[in-house]
Amino acid sequence: MATPNHPFLAACRREPTSFTPVWLMRQAGRYMEEYRKLRAQHGFLELCKKSDLATEITVTPVEKLGVDAAILFADILLILEPMGVGLEYSKGDGPVLHHPVRSGKDVDGLKEFNVETELSYVYESVKKIRKELKNKVPLIGFAGAPFTLASYLIEGAGSRNYVHTKRLFYSAPEAWKRLMERLAKVIGEYLNCQIAAGAQAVQIFDSWAGCLTPNDYEQFVQPYTKAVIDAVTPGVPVINFSTGTTGLLKNIRAAGGDVIGLDWRVNLDEGWAAVGHDVAVQGNLDPVALFASPKEIKSRVAEILKRAAGRPGHIFNLGHGVLPETPVDHVIAMVDAVHELSAR
Ligand code: CP3
Repeated sequence: MATPNHPFLAACRREPTSFTPVWLMRQAGRYMEEYRKLRAQHGFLELCKKSDLATEITVTPVEKLGVDAAILFADILLILEPMGVGLEYSKGDGPVLHHPVRSGKDVDGLKEFNVETELSYVYESVKKIRKELKNKVPLIGFAGAPFTLASYLIEGAGSRNYVHTKRLFYSAPEAWKRLMERLAKVIGEYLNCQIAAGAQAVQIFDSWAGCLTPNDYEQFVQPYTKAVIDAVTPGVPVINFSTGTTGLLKNIRAAGGDVIGLDWRVNLDEGWAAVGHDVAVQGNLDPVALFASPKEIKSRVAEILKRAAGRPGHIFNLGHGVLPETPVDHVIAMVDAVHELSAR
């Protein structure tokens, strides 16, 4: 079957499109009644592991919101579970790892595992989702970046100051290197398995890279993110996403990717100039702006589109994921505003 030239994939390649494609991080999630209903009946890991449920959760927002891409329903931490770290999603508190990694000995104690067999449920979902989407919109696969995954492995949960994580690279740089090399290897394999199953683009989430100094990013993070991006099957667009990285944009660009994620802390035109116009960008509405009136949302969408200036290679998105209390009709108003105001 001939693949239609989807606006999302065209924008990843910086080709002109008849409107600016839009999708949202966490477009499937707790702000949606359909998700909350399923979540009341199943644990989060169960939703990820039962591919029929993951498929339903992925496809519902595509139909309801009219977005131009689907994102696989899964989580960046799933890849850590087979390492034997005791991953648990406790209600309300977010994810916890019961056996965090704090030393070189802990790094070496992480279980080796087969990415293809241990995470086969993810690829099962990818196949079912592609079938269900019938080529109407492309499917984005994803993984956590080595640094963001390492920070969960080491802290054991979300963190404010990343003290344990930074202490490992300050005090045991060899152990840090071994950990990051292992993560980069499994993440690359994981993304390529998603691609083999049908993912048409991939996003790498380095959500917490913004806590790093530019020098530390360059020395302790950039080579491993670059290794992941370099390992991705050629021809498949890679979105390099991070938040709080306005001061790191040159390094983020150097790590690679066909599309660079920009959050709302930088004006889109200035962020795009910083990463270079020879790469596509994704962003960058403040997720909290979706709590404003639809009229106000529309004017903020217009502002971002004005800064993109019709240049090919802009994918509209939030600067981070949709927040749980966001009104669904405001999300729809945002998607409609992007399509209406960017039509050319
Ligand atoms: O974007 C999508 O719609 C696809 C699915 C997706 C989820 N998590 C589902 C999820 C994606 C792409 C992620 C990525 C993810 N997971 C990141 C990177 C993006 C980001 O938000 O910065 C991170 C850091 C995680 C780790 C994680 N998973 C946290 C911190 C939490 C709890 C806090 C929170 O934001 O919900 C999760 C749980 C999680 N992942 C939920 C969903 C829908 C909520 C689980 C629930 O229903 O209780």
